[in-house]
Amino acid sequence: AAPTQYQAENATISNGLVESNHAGFTGSGFVNYDNEVGSSVEFTVTSPSAGQATLTFRFANGTTANRPMDISVNGSLAADELSFPGTGAWTTWQTRTTTVSLNAGTNTIKTVATTSNGGPNLDRVDV
Ligand code: GCU
Ligand code: CA
Ligand code: CA
Repeated sequence: AAPTQYQAENATISNGLVESNHAGFTGSGFVNYDNEVGSSVEFTVTSPSAGQATLTFRFANGTTANRPMDISVNGSLAADELSFPGTGAWTTWQTRTTTVSLNAGTNTIKTVATTSNGGPNLDRVDV
């Protein structure tokens, strides 16, 4: 099936802000994580069946430093310090994929910044 898009600006944000000052986002904006360890965005997503699913994160990072995030699914670490490298500009959006195991029905996907730079700017995740 075609992926479903979940906008970061509609997710549960801890220590971050919804902004729209860098062009190229989809939906109504993106999340600017506070530049600190632990800033996070948690999505609630639905899967029609249990099994492996590809998560495609759309992000921008206008710095030259990687901004890794821990990706947890239903409370368990699924991708340890997934890299979100520099994209060249805050208006240059790229995708980063990882494969995780989902339950049938509702799942939570939490993305947590692991460095003092915080996360990248996050537009959405496609599941
Ligand atoms: C700039 C940019 C923000 C970004 C921030 C950062 O302030 O405008 O969108 O989140 O840098 O370094 O995280
Ligand atoms: Ca930020
Ligand atoms: Ca968005």
